[in-house]
Amino acid sequence: MTIRFDNRVAIVTGAGGGLGRTYALDLAKRGAKVVVNDLGGARDGTGHSDAALKVVEEIEAAGGEAMSNGGSVTEYDQMVEMVAKAKERWGGVHILINNAGVLRDKSFAKMEPADFEFVVKVHLFGSANCTKAVWETMREQSYGRILMTASSTGLYGNFGQANYGAAKLGLAGLTKTLHLEGAKYNIRVNTIAPVAGTRMTADLFPEQAFEAFAPEKVAPAAVYLVSEDAPSNAIVGAGAGVFQSAYVTLTPGVALTGDACTPEGIADRWRQITDRTGEIVPQSGAEQSMLIMKVLQGS
Ligand code: NAI
Repeated sequence: MTIRFDNRVAIVTGAGGGLGRTYALDLAKRGAKVVVNDLGGARDGTGHSDAALKVVEEIEAAGGEAMSNGGSVTEYDQMVEMVAKAKERWGGVHILINNAGVLRDKSFAKMEPADFEFVVKVHLFGSANCTKAVWETMREQSYGRILMTASSTGLYGNFGQANYGAAKLGLAGLTKTLHLEGAKYNIRVNTIAPVAGTRMTADLFPEQAFEAFAPEKVAPAAVYLVSEDAPSNAIVGAGAGVFQSAYVTLTPGVALTGDACTPEGIADRWRQITDRTGEIVPQSGAEQSMLIMKVLQGS
């Protein structure tokens, strides 16, 4: 089975380089018409360049169809305008990969509030802006595939990346609710946690690893997750050709009734509270309440 995107229109944000460029090239090769969005800033989000235009030229040189967009994901109006232009030229928007990102690493002790805000603004608000800009179109079409870009930092933490991690786990949370709200309209929403040698990680990877972790070894997951038969609500780790699945699980826990419902009661039963035997992966927030009722009834 070949995964194709003929007659599909895809927007990839931050596609002027790194992972986004690779996603855009692959989607275009498989028949998608691609909006290459990127304001072409530096790693910390400052400055501008024509990075998006260059990727469009690459796509066109390979026989594909693309348009560039230099808007910032932080500006909702610019994202609305980008979607309008794509619809005007190609009649719809079927795929959105929220990939644009910046880094402003510092230990939390040294991090300025402005740097915390900026990073959350680009990743979390930026992805919400683009998604909001396409949401109504996807509902009307009864078709949408959206990919959020999280990170191992969001899922598991990383020293010096409090701002980035907060935004990235927020994106996994955004996926979960949009998955529920989009289901009725055939909108599927997933999260990818990539690991790739790009300028974002240039000072982290030794040279050989940089090659092994090429963006091309992540792109298959991104492309699959926005395809016709994509799953929904998945969190997929991808790096160097290894693909993983991450879950937010819940232990059954214990009921502390009567006088035992105290901080001391928690301390006494901490081992059982955190015992992962019988843990579940709730499919919605309501399942936590249902599990609580079940534990209460069994106590
Ligand atoms: P990159 O720096 O090459 O790509 C990010 C792109 O986003 C840049 O081209 C940049 O100009 C663009 N961008 C930044 N702010 C923007 C804005 N406001 N509007 C539009 N475009 C904007 O880095 P890379 O590695 O390709 O990152 C892609 C995504 O993957 C990011 O969200 C990043 O956080 C995420 N990620 C990457 C990992 C890695 O190992 N490379 C690890 C985990 C997550």
